[in-house]
Amino acid sequence: MKKHVAANVSWVGKIDWELKKFHGEEYSTHRGSSYNSYVVEEGKTVLIDTVWMPFAKEFVDNLEAEGLLAKLDAVIANHGEIDHSGALPELLSRRPDLPVYCTANAVKSLKGQYHADWDFKVVKTGDSIDVGNGKSLVFVEAPMLHWPDSMFTYLTGDAILFSNDAFGQHYASELLFNDLVDQAELMQECVKYYANILTPFSPLVKAKIEEVVGMKLPVNAIATSHGVIWRKDPLQIVTKYMEWAQDYKEDRVTIMYDTMWNGTRRLAEELAKGIVDASPSTQVVVHNVARTDKNDIITDVFRSKAILAGSPTVNKGVLSALAGIMEEIKGLKFKGKKAAAFGTYGWSGESPKVISELLKESGFDLVEGGPKALWMPDDKALEAAREFGRAFAKAL
Ligand code: FEO
Repeated sequence: MKKHVAANVSWVGKIDWELKKFHGEEYSTHRGSSYNSYVVEEGKTVLIDTVWMPFAKEFVDNLEAEGLLAKLDAVIANHGEIDHSGALPELLSRRPDLPVYCTANAVKSLKGQYHADWDFKVVKTGDSIDVGNGKSLVFVEAPMLHWPDSMFTYLTGDAILFSNDAFGQHYASELLFNDLVDQAELMQECVKYYANILTPFSPLVKAKIEEVVGMKLPVNAIATSHGVIWRKDPLQIVTKYMEWAQDYKEDRVTIMYDTMWNGTRRLAEELAKGIVDASPSTQVVVHNVARTDKNDIITDVFRSKAILAGSPTVNKGVLSALAGIMEEIKGLKFKGKKAAAFGTYGWSGESPKVISELLKESGFDLVEGGPKALWMPDDKALEAAREFGRAFAKAL
């Protein structure tokens, strides 16, 4: 139900505690999520975004129960993706007269998904709606943050930036505001969200932040479309995004592998020991990619200055779990990270070469000479892996 945000602004969204996978099966949401919708009640009453389609009726029924449905003058669709636009068909079937403010690209995405011809009002950066009481809702297009149709809406006076997906987190909480929740959990969900969704668009993220900061608008709160609202030190998440958008890396190395009979696992473990031998402050994380959530692995890759990827040779290639995550990593376009390949084999032994090619195609700066062990690595092969770990750490 309606929750007070500030002045005449309320949250009217949906908290989805049950959600464990998002974007189909693509993104794990260990802590659930929320679909944040807001209503501004000034001289005019304007709804900003809606909720995911399964909650459409509940959402519109709530608006009706709160006396808002009949009162609405307009709805703003900051982004056409179904988790935010999913209740538009229900809403507009009950209020077909409502104008829908969105970008030209959002008209395409909304028509493409719902096959409906609503009363679209196309807006561009700088356009606004006068909501009365001296306040306006001002639009700022934000293409590729993260869809071509994305935009922000800024409420003057109260100085609230409705940023849609940008600065959000898949994090269910009844507490609504950033200062009320566990800070470590919150930041973990923020970095995971950036790493898995926004990394390929980092140059655009940086440029858009510079553009918005250049407008010198006061910002009292950033009201995202997922997770909590940034009201305490709201620009902290903008500062973080600027760091993350610029080839981010920590003193961290991610080792990821798949294994059949534990030979490649043993190499991975020796590599980890070797890195810490040479660089005791480096945080090393080791993931069996077949057993670990891929979005958590990608979050570690994002935070790392280098990665090591390993697989036994199978059918002259690599195991499918490693191939799958390498495909994902390639699409995310990480920059400024080093990498090396390793693996075991019994017969032909192509896997380190195949992995090296995948790493190069994915934009990593390859360190040659990663360990390659015949059959089960013996003490000599394990020591060679450990020694490579030491050399790799020194090369970073
Ligand atoms: Fe949360 Fe791009 O939708």
